[in-house]
Formats: sequence, structure tokens, C-alpha cells
Amino acid sequence: MEGPRPGGTGPSALPVRRRADEAGGMETATFETLVGEAVRAPSLNNSQPWRFRRLGDTVEVLLDLDRVPPDADPAGRLSRVACGAAAFNLSLGMAVRGRSVTIRPTTEDLVVARLVAAPHRPATPVQRRLYRVLPARHSNRSEFDDTPVPAAIRDELVRAARDEGCRLDLLADPSTVDTVAAIALLPRATDPVLGVLSGPGDRRDDAVRAGVALQRVLLTATAERLAVSVFSGPVVEPGIRERLRTAVGHGHPPQLVLRFGYAPALAPTARRNISSFVYE
Ligand SMILES: Cc1cc2nc3c(=O)[nH]c(=O)nc-3n(C[C@H](O)[C@H](O)[C@H](O)COP(=O)(O)O)c2cc1C
Repeated sequence: MEGPRPGGTGPSALPVRRRADEAGGMETATFETLVGEAVRAPSLNNSQPWRFRRLGDTVEVLLDLDRVPPDADPAGRLSRVACGAAAFNLSLGMAVRGRSVTIRPTTEDLVVARLVAAPHRPATPVQRRLYRVLPARHSNRSEFDDTPVPAAIRDELVRAARDEGCRLDLLADPSTVDTVAAIALLPRATDPVLGVLSGPGDRRDDAVRAGVALQRVLLTATAERLAVSVFSGPVVEPGIRERLRTAVGHGHPPQLVLRFGYAPALAPTARRNISSFVYE
């Protein structure tokens, strides 16, 4: 899917732009609050490979090429997934502040998504619910107990991915669970639930879409008091990724393996200073 591997050009390679509030866009304080919420998104090894820029009413999410882990993410795909998750957070923050936006993923080298103004409509109850739990979401690598995840909550997770144009397969068939658990080097169990998140395709913009769906799934899980862990090991090396795709069986390219269950909540992890994410 990807073009050339990103590497080392750094933020200084970005063209210089004027501050958006000078041109009548959103105020700096609002923008920085939104960025602070956006960066609560997950990223591979907490690499935080994103930057944000306002251009009038539009907010851009940019890949920070210096923060794409070269060994763990050679094609930059997982970093685009992370940027998609941050874009979803931004869209929630903007919606609850009365700024309806549409997320437009791109295949460009630097700008991975644009959040463009949409016709005004009040934030939906789902957006408000997900926004409320945004600060509490975290990856949980603890041992999960074997309490079953209720069917209604499983359905809600699957719907969350589908509503963002992606697919979440929660594995129930024991032989598929065995195969995927072996690929992902995880214990074989149907509770906690193993899931595979797949994108619509395998282009750069599909990775961003998968990130949007990922964050919607993760926040939905958080709202339901589920613990989630994220595994990208099985989707980095093409041969292993292909085995995973075959095991899930529908042909869409897998983007991540997720595990949902019950475990005590942990404290949120730290993020870099907001100023390092704002690009102006
Ligand atoms: C694309 C992507 C890949 C990830 N891969 C892994 C992984 O293989 N193993 C893991 O334990 N966590 C993985 N994570 C979770 C990150 O380590 C986690 O998001 C980061 O440390 C920040 O912590 P938080 O999610 O609690 O905010 C991944 C997250 C993303 C978005």
C-alpha cells in the first residue's frame, strides 16, 4: 500500500504556514485543548507520531516522520493508524464544541487526514458518551480474567468498527481462536475475546480509516468498562500478516489484533508537551 518508507526529513521539512487564528480560524486556546485531547490516542510504543495544524476552519493531522519507529513500523502504516485514532479524538472534541467536521483521510506523504467543516448539527449522544471517556482510555497489558463479554457489548464493538467503514471480527470459532492466538503469541481463549480489526483496503488512507475505527472501538470498550490490549506484532511482517488474513477468512487486510476483557483499570500513560505537536 505504502509509497517510499518515511525517514528522517523531520518537521522542518514541512512548509511554513501562518497561524490560523490570524486568518480568522479557531482560537489558539481551543486548538491546544483539542490537540491535548487528540494525543490521548494510542500509538505504537507511545511514539506519538503526529502533529496538528489549523488552516482556517480545517484541522490537518500530519505524520511526524521523525517519530515513525523505523524497525517496528518500516512502512509507516501503524503510524497512520495512530494518526487516524488521533483524528477521531479531534472530531469528537470539535463535535462537542459545536464544530461538526468530516474526517478526510489522504494518501499524501505528510498530511494524513483533514478535518473539514461539515454542516452544523449538535453532537450526537454517542459522540458525547465517547468524548466523556476519552481521558480514561488506556491500553491494558495486565492479565484479564475470564468473565465473558456480554453479547450486546460484543455487538456494540463490531458496530463501532462498521460505522467507520471497517470490520472487527470477534473470534468465536475455537479453531480460528487457536490459529490467531498462535500467530499473535497469545493464550488460547474465547474469554477474554480476541478480535481482528481490518481496514477496507490496504492503501495509506485505509490505514487512517482503520485508526479512526480503532479509536471508536476502544472508546466504546472504555465506555463499557472493558479492558483492551492492542497487538501489532502479527501485522508487520507480510508473511505473518497473510496468515492472519487467511485465518480470519474474509480477505480484508488485517490492521491490528485486539483483546477485550475485564481487568483493573490502570493510570493513563504520559504524553509529550502539547507545543511539540502543534505545527504552525
Ligand atoms: C498501531 C498501534 C500498534 C500497537 N501495537 C502494540 C503492540 O504490539 N503491543 C502492545 O502492547 N501495545 C501496542 N499498542 C499500544 C501502545 O503501546 C499504546 O497505545 C501506547 O503505549 C500508549 O498507551 P495508551 O494506549 O495506554 O495510551 C499499539 C497501539 C497502536 C495504535
